[in-house]
Amino acid sequence: MTTVVSGIRPTGYLHLGNYFGALRNFIKMQDENECYFFIADYHSLTTHPNNKDLKFNVKNVLIDYIAAGLDPEKATLYVQSAVPEVCELSLLLSMNAYVGELQRVPSFKEKVRRQPDNVNAGLLTYPVLMAADILLHRADKVPVGKDQEQHLELTRDFALRFNRLYKTEFFKLPVAYNFGNSLVKIPGLDGSTKMSKSDNEGSCIYLSDDPKTIQKKVMKAVSDSGPTEPHQEKPQPIENLFQLMSAVSSAETLQYFEEQYDSCQIRYGDMKKQLAADMIAFTAPIYERIQELRGNDDYLKKVMRDGADKARESARKTVKAVREIIGLD
Ligand code: ADP
Ligand code: TRP
Repeated sequence: MTTVVSGIRPTGYLHLGNYFGALRNFIKMQDENECYFFIADYHSLTTHPNNKDLKFNVKNVLIDYIAAGLDPEKATLYVQSAVPEVCELSLLLSMNAYVGELQRVPSFKEKVRRQPDNVNAGLLTYPVLMAADILLHRADKVPVGKDQEQHLELTRDFALRFNRLYKTEFFKLPVAYNFGNSLVKIPGLDGSTKMSKSDNEGSCIYLSDDPKTIQKKVMKAVSDSGPTEPHQEKPQPIENLFQLMSAVSSAETLQYFEEQYDSCQIRYGDMKKQLAADMIAFTAPIYERIQELRGNDDYLKKVMRDGADKARESARKTVKAVREIIGLD
């Protein structure tokens, strides 16, 4: 049986980038694999240490998970901090992770640039905790977007190092995973190359946006005055519109606008109208389920409790075995 683990930080509502990079794969994988999908609240503290919306955000990520199609009967859904065994595994893995390699991680360097006043130790050991999340259930596959590739490489390094040090084959070497093979990066509406709630609010279409909001955001998306020569290379913001269209629209629609672009006849107003309509059609059923789930606190709490119980069972087994391997038993 293949084991699948992944998580998303509760720093806001989930957007189309989260959906196509991660959540879509969670949903596709839940039928045939043993799946653990969590809400990475510990990790969110590295950038949002005192977040008054933390509980609200955790609840909303859970709602987005279920509304998008995750089934708590099929996959184990839980909040990271409800399974504190991950902290012990993270501590044990940290003995075997080098400060130099952690300092070289691109996402760490990026965070140092972004939050120079809060370069906390949690930021440095972020990849160790992430490895612990994954190794806690001895995962084979980890559905994530392209930006997480390096973290997965480190997870494999830590797992292999552990195995070598203690002469065991206890940990499998998990791989980043996306259906269709290549990892994806969904661009932003603001011309940025990555739709991201933490880096760029204005770049996002949320699964919980109502149709009017989506319409407004898409119509305001960055574009330009149009190509002047046939088959001209697309500038980034225009490339973004086409990539977004390829995520939510039909192949025929995409081809139609590609041809319009190549022959310099494109009208971005028309393209945006179509893109907005296709995004709305795509998110509408999710949006409706989100509204239903919002009032259903008892159900959501039960899902979290049951998920934490199941995840802890798996976590305890791993931590017990790791203690024995190291000689801490
Ligand atoms: P954000 O950048 O909005 O804060 P997270 O870092 O919490 O999002 O990402 C959660 C998951 O969604 C990760 O697996 C990440 O790879 C994926 N993801 C986030 N943004 C994108 C994007 N624009 N394209 C593809 N995947 C993405
Ligand atoms: N680092 C991931 C992100 O920013 C979130 C995450 C934490 C994660 N632990 C994980 C993803 C374990 C996959 C597996 O999106």
